[in-house]
Amino acid sequence: MKRRDFLKNIGLAAAGAAVAPELMAASPALPAEDVKIKGELNDVNIGFRSLKADVKRQLTVVIVGAGNRGTVYTDYALKYPDVVKIVGVSDINPDRAQRMAKKHNIPADRIYGDFHEIMAVPKFADAMIIATPDDVHFEPCMMALALGYDVLLEKPMAQTAEQCRRLLAQSRKYGRILATCHVLRYAPYFLALRHFITNGTIGDLVSIQHMEPIQYAHMSHSYVRGKWRDSKQTTPIILAKSCHDLDIIRWLVDSPCESIVADGSIYLFKESMAPAGAPARCTDGCPHEANCPYSAIDIYVRKKGYLYVFDNLDKNDDNAIMERLRTTEYGRCVYHCDNDQPDHYVADMVFKGGVTSSFTMDAFTPWGGRRTRVMGTRGMIEGDMKSFTITDFRTRKTSVWNMDVNEVAEYKGAGHGGGDLALFRDFVEAVAYQDPARLSSTVDVSIESHLMGFAAEKSRKSGRKEKP
Ligand SMILES: NC(=O)c1ccc[n+]([C@@H]2O[C@H](COP(=O)([O-])OP(=O)(O)OC[C@H]3O[C@@H](n4cnc5c(N)ncnc54)[C@H](O)[C@@H]3O)[C@@H](O)[C@H]2O)c1
Repeated sequence: MKRRDFLKNIGLAAAGAAVAPELMAASPALPAEDVKIKGELNDVNIGFRSLKADVKRQLTVVIVGAGNRGTVYTDYALKYPDVVKIVGVSDINPDRAQRMAKKHNIPADRIYGDFHEIMAVPKFADAMIIATPDDVHFEPCMMALALGYDVLLEKPMAQTAEQCRRLLAQSRKYGRILATCHVLRYAPYFLALRHFITNGTIGDLVSIQHMEPIQYAHMSHSYVRGKWRDSKQTTPIILAKSCHDLDIIRWLVDSPCESIVADGSIYLFKESMAPAGAPARCTDGCPHEANCPYSAIDIYVRKKGYLYVFDNLDKNDDNAIMERLRTTEYGRCVYHCDNDQPDHYVADMVFKGGVTSSFTMDAFTPWGGRRTRVMGTRGMIEGDMKSFTITDFRTRKTSVWNMDVNEVAEYKGAGHGGGDLALFRDFVEAVAYQDPARLSSTVDVSIESHLMGFAAEKSRKSGRKEKP
């Protein structure tokens, strides 16, 4: 199918929305348009369709946590204003709350600070997004469910297995939809990968090798200097970074994990590895700055990476960036930080029925993304989150899936291979029709991979095989 034919299909999907049943009526069948852009396998029907939710009235949504992720989801309302309106915001950072309010025309009396403030007023929207830091998920989510909100909760859901179980129980008690942001499940790449596993193309699934390459600078930014550097304050990296991956593995295998054994540690980012004379900050005249791949000056000033973490910054003003590096955690030498997250992590899993999987999370790579090999009795699939190749053992034929969502204007730039906005579209529809089946990452499903993560961390520390 040519690109113009695909766009025609998207148009047809939008036209289909006009005849959809009324809100709260019986959930209509999911539209399922197949898409071929290039690659002989691209015509597989994975339900790829417009990002515009198929609903008959505008839904109202409030946002708790107006930071990076909160902005990703709420920007959907700017893209499709007739589908979603953001009607309230809570953030302890007044600049961010005000910025969000201005963007969405939120009235002053619906701008809140700490989440306790917004939870102290009766429910005033159809749904709530909770996109606060990891340690601010459990409490607001318990409150939001009790208030009657359907909730989209950022991952990881909570900081302990017990809290995850309590969130599940709370969503059942109040009969609310609770969805987690396991966005990769909604990305066309993973939908297609799963399709070719479950339809028997490679025979019986036997094992999966899955690698999460964090990328060296991203590791230093998020897990050494930045927001997720402390596993006690946030969550262990196997959840903070890799709960997506455990979840994808569990989803591809499609049976419960029976045991997990893990290992990993900090190889590089610690005091004992500091080169001689490295000062506390890269801005303190470090003698190694010109050669260090982790130099904050190189990452933030020269390469202009990750600047979205700094509020009210002129990204073209190098002096202003340098000043942030002198005064915030992001200017610190990677060998002199208060980090405890491993920079390499391995986990082996056994699933009911005998399927095995081995997972590695690696800081020391030039690229991010994911790399996956799926071994079946009749063939193998090998992919890199952009394309995958299936090899048939008997014929030796190889076939390629390589649809690029960026070729579709509506999807261009959507994070996680299109998964971010596709998840939000499905959440909106799930709320509109009160139909959690429109989501593949409701709490009752997502809890499993969270429990796998907590078991992995227990195993890493105990040295024993653990049961999730
Ligand atoms: N789904 C994904 O792929 C994905 C990717 C990155 C991050 N995340 C998760 O999303 C969450 C948010 O991450 P982020 O990068 O957007 O962080 P962020 O720091 O950019 O945003 C969090 C916001 O929450 C606000 N906040 C903190 N405490 C609050 C409180 N008590 N009440 C109200 N607001 C409060 C902060 O001021 C901040 O603006 C984290 O849990 C993170 O692990 C998920």
